Amino acid sequence: PLVSTGDIVTPAARAGHGVGAFNVIQLEHAQAITAGAEAAGAPVILQISENAARYHGGLQAIGPATLAVARVARVPVAVHLDHATSDALVHEAVELGFTSVMYDASVLPYEENLRATEAITAHCHAAGVWVEAELGEVGGKDGVHAPGARTDPAEAAAFVAATGVDALAVAVGTSHAMRTRDAVLDFHLIRALREAVPVPLVLHGSSGAADDALTAAVDHGMTKVNLATHLNRIFTTAAREVLDSDPSLVDTRRYLGAGRTAMAGEVTRLLGVLRAQTAS
Ligand code: G3H
Ligand code: ZN
Repeated sequence: PLVSTGDIVTPAARAGHGVGAFNVIQLEHAQAITAGAEAAGAPVILQISENAARYHGGLQAIGPATLAVARVARVPVAVHLDHATSDALVHEAVELGFTSVMYDASVLPYEENLRATEAITAHCHAAGVWVEAELGEVGGKDGVHAPGARTDPAEAAAFVAATGVDALAVAVGTSHAMRTRDAVLDFHLIRALREAVPVPLVLHGSSGAADDALTAAVDHGMTKVNLATHLNRIFTTAAREVLDSDPSLVDTRRYLGAGRTAMAGEVTRLLGVLRAQTAS
């Protein structure tokens, strides 16, 4: 069923479990992630980024389709708007029934980030929607920012208190869209942030972290773990194998289905790596 994001993340943070938050571009992604979570018996978050929404010309088709996949799931599934910079897109997601949004004003100077995040949080909370914000840019998304950014624990605590956000994305050594899983995470900083910040912490750019680093990040206090690029690689590799093996193939279900199956298996495996809560 579709559940609120807080209903997944809050108990996980309390119990020291990780929560997988995986990005949806096509409908097949939503199905793969949900099937993988069902096989693991674990809750999961389906997230659609502002970039993915732009690819679809907005949220009006992919949003309801993703929400429908969540509603029929046999495990708790939340639907989240990822990396939104547009207030209008946040409002659209809230109206469609998304259960949470990430409002990303992290490129703004601290004071402006704070004011913009505070305003959007008030709007979302009035609709019962959970809000994630970001402090300390996680580099790499636009290829410009260096992966050296770090979030200061005291500043993070002050930011959460001032804005009322429900979760905070922090910069601890990952970088978006990495093709290799060799990021060096600052586990001491994760621990310090966990102790300073009263809301669940979110790791972005998790494709760049190896399995053991992801598990250690959760053990040191990270809760929501956002991962996209790695799962796209799994999907595309499987699709490419099918395409390469049969040059006469025309039915899109053959290669998209192979990608979906491969991605589901990796989601199941990753939820174990993240120590996700399981039903049994
Ligand atoms: O918000 C989404 C994530 O931060 C995904 O990053 O593609 O590097 O795993 P990634
Ligand atoms: Zn991200």
